[in-house]
Amino acid sequence: MSIMKSVNDFLARLSGKLKGGGEIAIEKQKKKGKHTARERIEDLLLDPDSFLETDLFVEHSVKDFGMDRKDLAGDGVITGFGKISNRSVAVFAQDFTVAGGSLGRAHAKKITKVMDTAAEAHIPLIGINDSGGARIQEGVESLCGYGEIFYRNTRLSGIIPQISVILGPCAGGAVYSPALTDFVFVVNKISNMFITGPQVIKTVLGEEVTQEELGGAVTQTSITGNAHFYAESEVEAFDTLKKLLSFLPSNSNEKPPVYRTVPPVNPLGDDVIPDDRKQAYSVRDIIRGIVDASDFLEVHEHWARNIVVGFARLDGKSIGIIANQPRVLAGVLDVNASDKAARFIRFCDSFNIPLLTMVDTPGYLPGIDQEHAGVIRHGAKLLYAYSEATVPKMTLIMRKAYGGAYIAMCSRHLGATFVASWPSGEIAVMGPEGAANIIFRREIAEADDPEACRQEKVREYEEKFSNPYVAAKKGYVDTIIRSSMTRDTFIKALSVADSFKVGHKHGNIPL
Ligand code: HXC
Repeated sequence: MSIMKSVNDFLARLSGKLKGGGEIAIEKQKKKGKHTARERIEDLLLDPDSFLETDLFVEHSVKDFGMDRKDLAGDGVITGFGKISNRSVAVFAQDFTVAGGSLGRAHAKKITKVMDTAAEAHIPLIGINDSGGARIQEGVESLCGYGEIFYRNTRLSGIIPQISVILGPCAGGAVYSPALTDFVFVVNKISNMFITGPQVIKTVLGEEVTQEELGGAVTQTSITGNAHFYAESEVEAFDTLKKLLSFLPSNSNEKPPVYRTVPPVNPLGDDVIPDDRKQAYSVRDIIRGIVDASDFLEVHEHWARNIVVGFARLDGKSIGIIANQPRVLAGVLDVNASDKAARFIRFCDSFNIPLLTMVDTPGYLPGIDQEHAGVIRHGAKLLYAYSEATVPKMTLIMRKAYGGAYIAMCSRHLGATFVASWPSGEIAVMGPEGAANIIFRREIAEADDPEACRQEKVREYEEKFSNPYVAAKKGYVDTIIRSSMTRDTFIKALSVADSFKVGHKHGNIPL
């Protein structure tokens, strides 16, 4: 073949492959409000012109699997490498327009190949899921494809960041790949994740539920906690993903990139805690008053809202924040809050992101429901994650730090590297009311005016025990600061601890 002929032949083949599943399938995709796999990678995710595609010409073996279609462009998945803010990433995007993005042998091999290269290059992996699941015609070969992906998700956990974006169906065993990755993004009315769909549930259990109620974006971010980030559109999801990456290193051997310091928009004053000790406030406002540019990227914003976790910067350096949220359930610790925080702590530890823990919690939530839901086992994960973490661990006691929760919320005893308290800190076995009722029960009962006596004993207890000074005297709290000094104090604490060791530690699933 002459050179020109071979070039023309190549161009013809290329244009066939670039068409994905063809015009009708693409139109169907668009009608659902979805972008194509190629648009997602090239237009929404990567820096312009940075995409290097691999394996576009891969085909499945028709002979082996009895499929009668040779024209499955890229076998239903687009793979390759590119840049986000000029940093390299590996990427795959399932193409629903090609056989419903179903996963067969060649499709899986393309994904595992790009995962292996990401591991060698030590760069983050981003997977875009939009698929009907295991390709039915390829039988067990599809299943082993999933197995090989799960294996790599697990082996790479804690070594490179892995992020999943669900932009279509993700059903059956297919859901376990995203579940093994560090962060899952979902988009309203586009994403769906479930082990078995509404049809199967109706047949087996007689229960009726819509696909959206069962596994849509709202469900996955507010009820199950399977997904970490909710977006109204694909564009919003990718913008948040890019922001997330800006806080992360490319791998466990690096520290996150450092940015220019920008002061908070509304720095904290000295009056942030309400005068009434029982009054709620939003810890988000406090976080924004401390961190650079008041910029806080919340993870799991809609799930287990009694604890707030997310990324921010202090003096240009990434930190992971774990904060009790007094506005929701008074900031108690429960099963879900423990799981949410433990997984976040383990992620930050894996990727060399120092922790700032902000404490205002009355303790673990009592009750039969919580006990039977395994609050002992789940609560232990929080203790484990903090104790295991070797990144700098800084703690701020804002108000209540009672009982087991004082210990669990990154106390000195679990290896905190620096603990500060505001004067409003209350470090005690329990709250003043409960404590006074127990230890002064007899005196209160025998008093002429029991209520006045009770109030007096509560005050006495507060003065004696429910403050930060007892702990500070013993060195469990390093310093007591006015709230207006918080940012400066923690910037100094972070810089003291800055030369901590990096390197692979552990994976990221909560144990
Ligand atoms: C082969 C599939 C497919 C699959 C869809 N297609 N899913 N081909 N294997 N699993 C094909 C369709 O035949 C169709 O091809 C094209 O993709 C588009 O599908 P539609 O049904 O027309 O699209 P839509 O109406 O949007 O419905 C989407 C869907 C539905 C809800 C995802 O396709 C569906 O229910 N698919 C099957 C889902 C499923 O049960 N998968 C197995 C899960 S179990 P044509 O040629 O007509 O365009 C699993 C096990 C993994 O994944 C275990 C791992 C451990």
